[in-house]
Amino acid sequence: MDKNILSDRILNLTESATLEMTRLSREFKANGIDVITLSIGEPDFDTPQHIKDAGKIAIDNNITHYPPVPGFLELREAIAQKLKRDNGLDFNASQIVVSTGAKHSLINVFMCILNQGDEVIIPAPYWVSYPEMVNLSGGTPVIIDAGIENDFKVTPEKVEAAITPKTKAFLFNSPGNPTGSVYSRSELEALADVFAKYPDILIVADEIYEYINFEGKHESLASFKKIQDRVVVVNGVSKGMAMTGWRIGYIAGPQFIATACIKLQGQYTSGTGTISQMAALEAVKTIPETSTDLKNMLSAFRERRDLLIDLVNDIPGMKTNVPVGAFYLFPDVSYYYGKSDGNTIINNSNDLSMYLLNYAHVAVVPGEAFGSPECIRISYATSKELITEAVKRIKLALEKLS
Ligand SMILES: Cc1ncc(COP(=O)(O)O)c(C=O)c1O
Repeated sequence: MDKNILSDRILNLTESATLEMTRLSREFKANGIDVITLSIGEPDFDTPQHIKDAGKIAIDNNITHYPPVPGFLELREAIAQKLKRDNGLDFNASQIVVSTGAKHSLINVFMCILNQGDEVIIPAPYWVSYPEMVNLSGGTPVIIDAGIENDFKVTPEKVEAAITPKTKAFLFNSPGNPTGSVYSRSELEALADVFAKYPDILIVADEIYEYINFEGKHESLASFKKIQDRVVVVNGVSKGMAMTGWRIGYIAGPQFIATACIKLQGQYTSGTGTISQMAALEAVKTIPETSTDLKNMLSAFRERRDLLIDLVNDIPGMKTNVPVGAFYLFPDVSYYYGKSDGNTIINNSNDLSMYLLNYAHVAVVPGEAFGSPECIRISYATSKELITEAVKRIKLALEKLS
């Protein structure tokens, strides 16, 4: 038997570029090559102690049996309180579904709403998995571009121009991966104004980087009354609470969406891990403004962002924006396209990323994967020493291109 047995669904699925670059850099390391990995999308901080303790207590208390499909009621109630406390949003526990990471929460929603050919508008640069999730669910991603000149944010005019009778949803992400861009309240309101005119379009707001915002408090797209009843908020504990491996995400949205996700999850994965849920309960009860763990992480990210921007701006031809959130820089590197070191011609960001991996021993992610082939994504979720060394290596490697 060979791979012909595989479904079209899986054969047509693109591998996650971020995971692929991380896999390649692990391979280099296994061969004794000192690679600096700037391709990973997770905080390099450990989960705070009080949250880890909650997980340990859950084990000792034998909270190890099947949980309810949508998640423990206590956790969903705590999430409802968190949404009120941090975002001023009113959801009750029955509108909340806990899943295995925000990734799982997102695909649940698309599996529940999309029929063949239904369109989902996705601003680019986008997180790598968005279009593939829509494709997997039978939908059609409709990509609209937001360039670096507009801080990688889409204008309401562009969004409205992409709406067709087939548009089922708008998939929105702020603070954004890969750009770190954060929409202001007035920019969000302008988007809300567009969707107020189209009551049949669902808005999926991925707010997973909520807490990693260097300038202000997070503003949720769900906070605008005019569209509130059809916004699905997607969030979780992975990024802001340094809990990527615990795999807890959630949605809060219209009751019929939550009910549909529970139905799907009931046949597909069941409720997610009990120990992780108990740790997440402790995490969502944490008040962000008073958490020293979060404050320390934020100030470290901010310092590293400033350092990275300074260093990158010293490289000829690299253009950057100033990301306000998340932990990525997404420089435009198209200046180097068409150049060569005598052996390798750089035609696009895939070539450039492979060139940097092979010759600078630095792993970054090509912008193609995020719908912006002129850029590369550099994660600064690593130490200042490694950032400095990595950019030094990148600069030296790029100097060889002409
Ligand atoms: C924009 C965005 N949404 C969702 C996720 C998924 O989060 P989780 O690890 O909770 O599945 C990620 C993770 O990289 C992300 O960058």
